[in-house]
Amino acid sequence: MKKFILSGLYFGGDYTPEHFPRAVMDEDMRLMKQAGVNLATVNVFSWVQLQPNEEAWTFDWLDEVMNTLAENGVGADLGTATASTPAWMAKTYPEILPIDDKGLPYHHGSRQTFNPNSPVYREKSAILVRKLAERYRNHPALCMWHVNNELSQLLNYDYSDITIRKFRAWCQARFGTCEAMNRTWGLHFWGNNIHDWDELMPPMRTAHQVNTSLLLDWKRFTNECYMEVARAEIEILREVTPNVPVTTNFLYEFKNLDYFAWADMLDFISVSSFPDPKVTNHPGEAALSHDMMRGLKDQPFVLLEQAPSQVNWRLANVNKKPGVMRLWSHQGMAHGSDGFLFFQWRASVHGSEKFHSAMVPHIGEDSRVFREMTAFGRELPHLREIVGSDVRADIAMVLDYNTWWTVEFTPGPTALLSYLDNLKAYHYALFEQNLTVDVVPVDRDLSRYKVVIAPLLYMIKPGFKESIERFTASGGVFVTTFFSGVVNEFDEVFHGGYPGPLSELLGVKVEEFEAMKPYVQNRVVVGDDLPGLSGDYDATLWCDILQLHGATPLATFGEDYFKGSPAVTMNEFGKGRAYYIATLPTKDFLKPFLKQLCAEQGVRPVLETPEGVEAVVRSRDGTDYLFVLNHNYEPVEVTLPPGWHFDLLTQIRVEGVVALGPVQTLILKENPT
Ligand code: GAL
Repeated sequence: MKKFILSGLYFGGDYTPEHFPRAVMDEDMRLMKQAGVNLATVNVFSWVQLQPNEEAWTFDWLDEVMNTLAENGVGADLGTATASTPAWMAKTYPEILPIDDKGLPYHHGSRQTFNPNSPVYREKSAILVRKLAERYRNHPALCMWHVNNELSQLLNYDYSDITIRKFRAWCQARFGTCEAMNRTWGLHFWGNNIHDWDELMPPMRTAHQVNTSLLLDWKRFTNECYMEVARAEIEILREVTPNVPVTTNFLYEFKNLDYFAWADMLDFISVSSFPDPKVTNHPGEAALSHDMMRGLKDQPFVLLEQAPSQVNWRLANVNKKPGVMRLWSHQGMAHGSDGFLFFQWRASVHGSEKFHSAMVPHIGEDSRVFREMTAFGRELPHLREIVGSDVRADIAMVLDYNTWWTVEFTPGPTALLSYLDNLKAYHYALFEQNLTVDVVPVDRDLSRYKVVIAPLLYMIKPGFKESIERFTASGGVFVTTFFSGVVNEFDEVFHGGYPGPLSELLGVKVEEFEAMKPYVQNRVVVGDDLPGLSGDYDATLWCDILQLHGATPLATFGEDYFKGSPAVTMNEFGKGRAYYIATLPTKDFLKPFLKQLCAEQGVRPVLETPEGVEAVVRSRDGTDYLFVLNHNYEPVEVTLPPGWHFDLLTQIRVEGVVALGPVQTLILKENPT
């Protein structure tokens, strides 16, 4: 895959000058210059401003915005404006309004209230996007296209007749006959078989649970519908402006869409990243999200929206304390972000988001937030050389969106199961030891990794068994957990027990499993077989009762009728080893366990640091950039690797032990010449 590299280190925010008197734009340009802003996201929700009725087009205001940006050296991340439909469209063509799962229509207002399958919506969007592309194709401000906005965030299903008919056709193309679909989905269960395509219903309101294979395919279908919306726009943009990169902002910790399926359509990935700035937030949360975004295309991405300080949509909205905006931006860069955009440039004075923070708050430039932004912007030229470099990781963590969907909508074995929390447990254990992770899909080539971790890999798709066996046989270490290898890609349980196709690799079979109530725990008892671990540890959420089919038990359960049965096993496979963890152990187990596995594979922490201090390396052509991030609200001392380093932020040489203030960062160029 050819890597796309952005042409600059972008800094700026969502910009809506059309919401303010004209004079404010001059003020904005002065302040943007002062802060070093070089990119503004414009026109995201402005369809009605461009087309106030079906016949009229009013581009003059956007011309002025684009011209003003260009004159002031600010580029445009130009929105296609399809995220909010004009009122006239709903009035004239009510079919553009989505229908909910009770058959009730949505009404005009707010944003994203469109049926993704409405031919009228598609047609009108295409006209708009073509007009925009043709009008601004040679505009000096145009840097990139911003397709729609966070597709499927607010509305992720539609149950209109249009969509239901399309779903039936999609299933017909997939399965050929009703009988084949009945068989594959197991619709005989509860007598749900159909004999005519017209009988097929999406998962709408019914008295009890809907077939889980149907749910899964309905979700895949919906994902494809939203992909079609984006693709239709992208095809026009590529045709008219083949050299302008295209993105759409993805979301943090978002499971509605299968982002791996989307990644190829885009030139680069961008994300709206809004971790909660409460002091108890684990800094690994953002790190995992960034690793997910980088993993989508295996290349750098852009933080297209962050909050300058607080958001307005949590129960109580905590501010980013002084320094945190800079720290979290640097953390984003450490994990692969090549840009820092914020929602929003100037605080709005109307509507729902007027109490969302902005780079320019209501009080104006004489404010902490604006001062921090200005100071941050001034440092960015020093970081420009990092753009396009790679994040170095020898560990891969497998993420599968289909698994994420199914484990969470399948009734039982426990409603307490969160796929993301299980990924987090492993990711945080690595994160806290500065062991860097790439997040990969099940079909990525794994040969460059030394350790592959696939927590809760419930669904095994064709090809994965072969790929992970190849990886392990040639010397890799593979780690997986309970509730893995349970179903095929249609959510049908593998015959003969879990972990299904992975049984031979892992040398175990699951005979029974038990989900634990929140207040019940079992114990993982470790003997002499796990270096760095001894005694017993908490086992939470789940226990598998395993049969050994070649694997060696390394730890056992400490309680209940299956006391003494294996909790952690290892199977030698070719030149490598495959580990199975039959429960969710706590961090005090996972940290030393994973550290040891990594060490045996020659994978060492980036740096030994005090607690709460993160270290990540980005590299290019033999030059390393070492990021050291103090997530603590207290100062720390960090011992740097031997030799001297060039501190890009302060532009001085450093070596030995350095003091790092609360929430401060070091970004060091290694091996400087
Ligand atoms: C984003 C969205 C923006 C704004 C922001 C507020 O998800 O794209 O338009 O609503 O959230 O945090």
